Amino acid sequence: ETCILVGAPMDCGKRTHGCLMGPDAFRTAGLTDALQALGHKVLDIGNLAPAAHAPDAPDTHIFRANACIGWTAKLLETAQWAMSKGTPIFLGGDHALSLGSVAGVAAHAAQAGRPQFVLWLDAHADFHTPRTTQSGNLHGTPLAYVTGQTGFDGFPAVPAPVPPENICILGLRSVDGAEKQALQKARISRHDMREIDETGIARPLKAFLDRVAAAGGALHVSLDVDFLDPAVAPAVGTTVPGGATVREGHLVCEMLHDSGLVTSIDLVELNPFLDERGRTAQLMVDLCASAMGRRVFDRPTRAYA
Ligand code: ARG
Ligand code: MN
Ligand code: MN
Ligand code: MN
Repeated sequence: ETCILVGAPMDCGKRTHGCLMGPDAFRTAGLTDALQALGHKVLDIGNLAPAAHAPDAPDTHIFRANACIGWTAKLLETAQWAMSKGTPIFLGGDHALSLGSVAGVAAHAAQAGRPQFVLWLDAHADFHTPRTTQSGNLHGTPLAYVTGQTGFDGFPAVPAPVPPENICILGLRSVDGAEKQALQKARISRHDMREIDETGIARPLKAFLDRVAAAGGALHVSLDVDFLDPAVAPAVGTTVPGGATVREGHLVCEMLHDSGLVTSIDLVELNPFLDERGRTAQLMVDLCASAMGRRVFDRPTRAYA
């Protein structure tokens, strides 16, 4: 299968700068070689630029909305194109890139008559709308946008909103009040670190993968660096203690590959300016390799039809 690397040096989804260096850090950490070593073809299309957009005023509550609109338009279009060519891997850039990547892959799935599912690996729910966000940072909003919530004035219309019941969030440990209320109403399946500690991470993941398989769905995986514990993944602006271990991260990614269900991936929120000798970039590349088939020893593939 062909992996399409889509660099999205998007840095407007929050106030801490540095994610614009993310795509090149993933390349420097050897992403292409790792994928080729697994037998994949790799097409690196380089880094995108946002579509033309109005300038942003300096003092708005929502930070750099117009730049995010330009990026969303560009990613929405590029994601649909990339889905027709192979398995896109979106190299962020901050998590606001998922407004466009997820809306785009879901539009492609709708055209193919396939339900779109989304696995969100994150300390945060990213379920704010521009009306509920207190920070004004749009990287906290992608799941609201792609499920078709209102309040995203000036953004491209979402061609095929993702049904909330097709979304699973793993790794939660920082959820704002308004998000918590909205999540309790929405039929998104959500698993916090307490549940992961009590049951292990494989149980909720397997339940979700079984549902994706039964529906014949396409699966988008959005991996935020802050899903991982800051002790092993320091290069992110929004660290929250108590995150997933290296072992939990690899187990999730290995199960994802074994499922045969993954159709697109985001690697987001890497801020190389905050990294220590590239260790976070390297871990993200190693996790991506696990998701694309790297193994210590092979296991029998799960019987997903
Ligand atoms: N909920 C917080 C906010 O709205 C944090 C969002 C963090 N999102 C992320 N993609 N890291 O600002
Ligand atoms: Mn996030
Ligand atoms: Mn996060
Ligand atoms: Mn594969």
